[in-house]
Amino acid sequence: METRHNFGSKIGAVLASAGSAVGLGNVWRFPTEVGNNGGAAFIFIYLICIALIGIPVMMSEFLIGRHTHANTISAFAKLAPGKWWRIEGVAGVFVAFLILSYYIVISGWTLFYLIESVAGRLQAGRNYSDVFNNFVSDPWLPVLTGTAFMGLTHFIISRGVQSGIERFSKVMMPMLLFIIGILVICSFSMPGSSEGLRFLLKPDLSKLTASVILSAVGQAFYSLSLAMGCLCTYASYFRADANLPKTAAGVSIIDTLVAILSGFIIFPAVFSVEEVSVDAGPGLVFITLPSVFNIAFEHVAWLGYIFSGFFYLLLLLAALTSAMSLHESVTAYVLEAFSISRRKAATAVSVSCMLLGVLCSLSFGILGDVKLFGMNVFELFDYTSSKIILPIGGIIICLFTGWYLDRRLVESELTNNGRLRFRLFRLYYFIIRYVAPLAIAAVFLQEIVS
Ligand code: PHE
Repeated sequence: METRHNFGSKIGAVLASAGSAVGLGNVWRFPTEVGNNGGAAFIFIYLICIALIGIPVMMSEFLIGRHTHANTISAFAKLAPGKWWRIEGVAGVFVAFLILSYYIVISGWTLFYLIESVAGRLQAGRNYSDVFNNFVSDPWLPVLTGTAFMGLTHFIISRGVQSGIERFSKVMMPMLLFIIGILVICSFSMPGSSEGLRFLLKPDLSKLTASVILSAVGQAFYSLSLAMGCLCTYASYFRADANLPKTAAGVSIIDTLVAILSGFIIFPAVFSVEEVSVDAGPGLVFITLPSVFNIAFEHVAWLGYIFSGFFYLLLLLAALTSAMSLHESVTAYVLEAFSISRRKAATAVSVSCMLLGVLCSLSFGILGDVKLFGMNVFELFDYTSSKIILPIGGIIICLFTGWYLDRRLVESELTNNGRLRFRLFRLYYFIIRYVAPLAIAAVFLQEIVS
């Protein structure tokens, strides 16, 4: 059995966890949700969800991971030996595996778009809807780009916690933040961008319905990578002196900033071009944006080239740091449960996940008609994982920390055995026992009923 490593530094731990949180969910899903749910009003509710539910649940995952220093399944088994709570660990690892298998497909698309954009082929004024549909329905190309992306993730994970995850996060996260800065400036300087800003900043309170609030809770969970064992696994590598409440707050702030700044990149750009209709879903970044880049920078082609190249690089970096955490959640389990080397465990995960990934990828083309419960393979994976297993997992984590674990254990883990002060402990404990589980249950029921 290999020795278990910790992250070498506090900043490494924060950047790796922030890397898990910042992903396609921030750059692509968040702006889409904002667009569909009334702009600033949604952002306002989203911020409340992050502070009130997201951060406390993240702290709970952190304390479970750091207390046990084990993969997610063993973590629950150690804290509750012989009890059914371990099912939550199993569900977390399982869902990370499922999500990874389709996450790499979309990430492969971003790799393709980055290559197309660097090669100057996104500027040729093509019909971007055709470009996208022809690409995703091709039987080979998306599988190839997905495999290449999986290769990158595999390479980093096989190198281990410090020289893989930590080292690469320390390079990729600052790069990502830098690129966002450049893109925000570019986007603001486009003529007509103020319309987009107004949309983002002026709350339309009439749009605030129950379903908007519930979408905000759902988005907060997805964006913070909660309930998938990822942050619990990363926390198992945290050092004894890591400040868990502060780390959770830091990671959530970075994640939220990136989401909001992505909105500041996309909406001013999209609103500056009247001829383009805003697509929801994958269409927003793969169809609408290339058209926007093309029209907006018609006369300054080089700027459009830079803008689109940086944008897809941003998407790729965000996807890679998240895929790493999903991969690690499963690899850590395989490696510890079967006592095999990290390299072997990572290979087993990459290969089996890729096989599922091929099915997902083909569901946009030749397997498009293979349906179960009216959904193709991709939709089925997405639905079962994010709409069913995740919310239930979130509720279980709250009940586990709030009702099952000894309050003294929780408090001592969050204060490093009393060495740190955590003034908001009572508030945290109240939220984790009552507010968070009820709020998540409401989201879940709403999704099931609608
Ligand atoms: N939080 C990631 C995102 O915003 C998605 C993710 C979920 C990644 C869970 C890892 C684990 O895209």
